[in-house]
Amino acid sequence: MATLSSSPHCSSSPYYSNSSSIVFHHQKVVTLSSIRPQSFGPGRFSLQSKTKPNSIVVCMQDGAAAATISPIENETPLKKLTDGLLNVASPEDRKEAAAFDINRDKSTVSVTVVGASGDLAKKKIFPALFALYYEGCLPEHFTVFGYARSKMTDAELRTMVSKTLTCRIDKRENCGEKMEEFLNRCFYHCGQYDSQEHFGELDKKLKEQEAGRVSNRLFYLSIPPNIFIDAVKCASLSASAANGWTRVIVEKPFGRDSESSAALTKALKQYLEEDQIFRIDHYLGKELVENLSVLRFSNLIFEPLWSRQYIRNVQLIFSEDFGTEGRGGYFDSYGIIRDIMQNHLLQILALFAMETPVSLDAEDIRNEKVKVLRSMRPLKLDDVVIGQYKSHTKGVVSYPAYTDDKTVSKDSRTPTFAAAALFIDNSRWDGVPFLMKAGKALHNRRAEIRVQFRHVPGNLYNRTFGTDLDQATNELVIRVQPDEAIYLKINNKVPGLGMRLDRSHLNLLYAARYSKEIPDAYERLLLDAIEGERRLFIRSDELDAAWSLFTPVLKEIEERKITPEYYPYGSRGPVGAHYLAARYNVRWGDLGLEQ
Ligand code: BG6
Repeated sequence: MATLSSSPHCSSSPYYSNSSSIVFHHQKVVTLSSIRPQSFGPGRFSLQSKTKPNSIVVCMQDGAAAATISPIENETPLKKLTDGLLNVASPEDRKEAAAFDINRDKSTVSVTVVGASGDLAKKKIFPALFALYYEGCLPEHFTVFGYARSKMTDAELRTMVSKTLTCRIDKRENCGEKMEEFLNRCFYHCGQYDSQEHFGELDKKLKEQEAGRVSNRLFYLSIPPNIFIDAVKCASLSASAANGWTRVIVEKPFGRDSESSAALTKALKQYLEEDQIFRIDHYLGKELVENLSVLRFSNLIFEPLWSRQYIRNVQLIFSEDFGTEGRGGYFDSYGIIRDIMQNHLLQILALFAMETPVSLDAEDIRNEKVKVLRSMRPLKLDDVVIGQYKSHTKGVVSYPAYTDDKTVSKDSRTPTFAAAALFIDNSRWDGVPFLMKAGKALHNRRAEIRVQFRHVPGNLYNRTFGTDLDQATNELVIRVQPDEAIYLKINNKVPGLGMRLDRSHLNLLYAARYSKEIPDAYERLLLDAIEGERRLFIRSDELDAAWSLFTPVLKEIEERKITPEYYPYGSRGPVGAHYLAARYNVRWGDLGLEQ
């Protein structure tokens, strides 16, 4: 189905599109809506599916009574849709339908942040929504609802949100004015996450704001996983959009292993269709991760080198220079492998290693990613090193151990660091080690991809490098953060009469090249979810494949109670990571002499 891309500058009169709906703000244009059909005006027939909100109705904007129902890929089969259809419009439905008639050329989008008083909501979601609003990316009729258990008025929510809008926008022109406008569109509803009644009240408030227009509703679940299902059930049964789309963004963790993840997916699918579920991995929204495909597929020079023939190893590195302070409770039952490797790093790996997709459509890209994941060998314990940070005193400053966190048990073995060697058993990557390293409380904060190329065969300049040929290896570095950059390490002649070589960088430093600030990953992902673009969200089969790789080793680590290697807070991590790399003839690029 057709897809329209949003204007790069997000005009203030946006149109939305997705694989199942296109809404043009013009007359005489066919509108396709992925909707729970209600009624289309008095006297016309009315459809309502109580359980499954997604079906396809095509209606002519000029008012002609043309209604066709047809299934689209991955969406509600016709049979399911016809279960629970009601044919008679109630007086209330007719009233709504009348309002719908008047406003049918306008549509609304509301984003309900479920778990509005949590950290993620305050630090990321509200600021991202404001940034989108500031940039003119949100529709004319747009509202934000905060939903949480704490008692709060709209005014209190606005004060809370205004304090956390310390985003990239806050130093811009007219920021105060725009913020005021944005805050006026923010509302709060206090409710329990497992109460259909409370979600029903929210539904009423949403309807007031929607004022009879086509309503599109996005629920962002920023809540702990144990209450996902309750919240999804209540939101879907009591607060689904009556005549537009309903989508739900879910944050990880999507389970703890293959079984729990499958159970979660199954439970979610009782209330939602797969195409309504947007599983977010915010690393996919990072600028340089998005750029990976551009780099590979729009430049002639990289793709021919992108295989075992030229690449010796690939390194995916994540490090943070702070511990789990304040998040120990969550972290302790997950650990770094589930928190970073199984999702963020593995997603980058899949994008890095996939074959050229048929097109840039979400399904084509996700198909290729799944193929890579399914070609990978499940990780073996031998190929994993785990660590945990211990306290460290530097001068007068003392840094805590992981187990000093009050929410973590003193004898916790949860890894805060892990290194792993993974392999893709396909013709492109056979034998190439993909090394991952992720850790908290390390010496720096960084996320990068390092591609080390093979040695030059019969290199004429070998003697200039002495015996350490690795020094002459070309290395492509894609630095995701901080200081976004792409650079290629090459060997170069030092200018002068002699013949001395050094290693220099062909350097694309984003801050020097582009004056435009890089949007936060959440901005891109929220906008995509609003527009129905699924490319950067995880499909359920991707998730299954990702868990299959890590579940056996996670179980073994836990069952055999493997003790992590302790490393001091602020250090470079356990030495075991070096031995692991050395076993595959690899040196970690981030610990090299020149950075
Ligand atoms: C989250 C993890 O997904 O990503 C956190 O749960 C981690 O533990 C965070 O700190 C890192 O995100 P970013 O965008 O700050 O690199």
